[in-house]
Amino acid sequence: MRIELPHRSERFGAVRIHGVQEVWELDSGGEPASVDDNAWHSIHHVPSTTINDYERRMAIVVPVKGERLKVLDGVLSGIPHDCLIILVSNSERDPVDRYRMEKETLRRFCRLASRSAQLIHQRDPGIAAAFAEAGMPEILEDDGLVRDGKGEGMLIGLALAKLSGREFVGFIDADNYVPGAVYEYVQAYASGFHLAESPFSMVRISWRSKPKIQAGRLFFNRWGRSSQVTNRFLNLLLSSYSGFGTEIIATGNAGEHAFSLDLALRMQFAAGFAVEPYEYINVFERYGGVLASPDKDVMKAGVEIFQIETRNPHFHENKGADHVQEMRLQALNVLYHSPISVQDVRDEIADFLRQEGVIGEGEEPPQELLYPPMSGIDWDTFGRVLGDKSESFRQIEKVRPASLERQTPIPEIPDSESKG
Ligand code: GDP
Ligand code: CO
Repeated sequence: MRIELPHRSERFGAVRIHGVQEVWELDSGGEPASVDDNAWHSIHHVPSTTINDYERRMAIVVPVKGERLKVLDGVLSGIPHDCLIILVSNSERDPVDRYRMEKETLRRFCRLASRSAQLIHQRDPGIAAAFAEAGMPEILEDDGLVRDGKGEGMLIGLALAKLSGREFVGFIDADNYVPGAVYEYVQAYASGFHLAESPFSMVRISWRSKPKIQAGRLFFNRWGRSSQVTNRFLNLLLSSYSGFGTEIIATGNAGEHAFSLDLALRMQFAAGFAVEPYEYINVFERYGGVLASPDKDVMKAGVEIFQIETRNPHFHENKGADHVQEMRLQALNVLYHSPISVQDVRDEIADFLRQEGVIGEGEEPPQELLYPPMSGIDWDTFGRVLGDKSESFRQIEKVRPASLERQTPIPEIPDSESKG
């Protein structure tokens, strides 16, 4: 991939936020970078062989809730071969068992493509027990199961990525219509990690366009409404500390993003759809130098955030206006209540939410649920309980028929395929 180097970067304590970088060439060849390649300095060649090295060390988590199977199948086809696929589903099981259909789709794909994967249902009592016994009971609801929500699905995926020994984890939504976009996101994740100088890094995707049908024509929208609002307030927070106006953050709501596990396991995540914008906020809270940081090693090495603008359009399932409203609200709620938020930002958020009719006069935005970092989890216990108690967890082995070679993502956990 040939990729622009960031023109600008801004600092917030130990966090470096790089400005949006454009992709110049989707595949820039496998030759190692030479002096010629990077002679212009502003554009960087990341060899496909280097990208592949990162893919081997990466898990891709696909959170899914009731998406169309054809679309899901397309998403799977776009995930580069050497990434481990982790499907975390919160789809309905009754009266129609959509989880079973997703399992069949994944199995068939893996068999034909000779790949390994993992899948689990979010409301499986076994995954709940694993969290409870290994030290993170906060993720459970009163009914004793893991709460509904995209953030919770991502945390399950993160735990499985950790157990599989992968070093990087990327997230890709299951409702993406363009398999080529999925492929490009993963290449961008790998390129970002390659450019990172710190082991604590995050790569977020900014899309060039989000096509919509308007008046019977295809219109390539630059930004979604919800993104505009989230980014505006995140930038406002930065400028209230630095004293300089900024537009550096363009990916507050990015559903497509990736972390080094070294970073992800130290961070706190938010519930539901507050999850993505809160990642910025939590990194600022922990490593922004405003509050005392719990992780001295991270403060020393710094955190790097890359924002990469991909070439493919972001074309996903349209879930209607209510959903956008809800997401925007949750992003602002977490910013409002953050201990690093300042009065000016709080006032502007409250004014905005009142104007939009989301909260009434004198009302405060609601608090969102925040989870502790996963660094407190006892992973041996987690794996053992998961293996013993889960009903839906499956590991699909990579099987190469001619050589009879088999690979299981987590060999220590007994082959749950035998459960059917
Ligand atoms: P948007 O694209 O950000 O507007 O949000 P979507 O509704 O498309 O959700 C993003 C992804 O998360 C999709 O793949 C959904 O199917 C999935 N998703 C939504 N809610 C949940 C949930 O509760 N659990 C899991 N595991 N996935 C979810
Ligand atoms: Co979507």
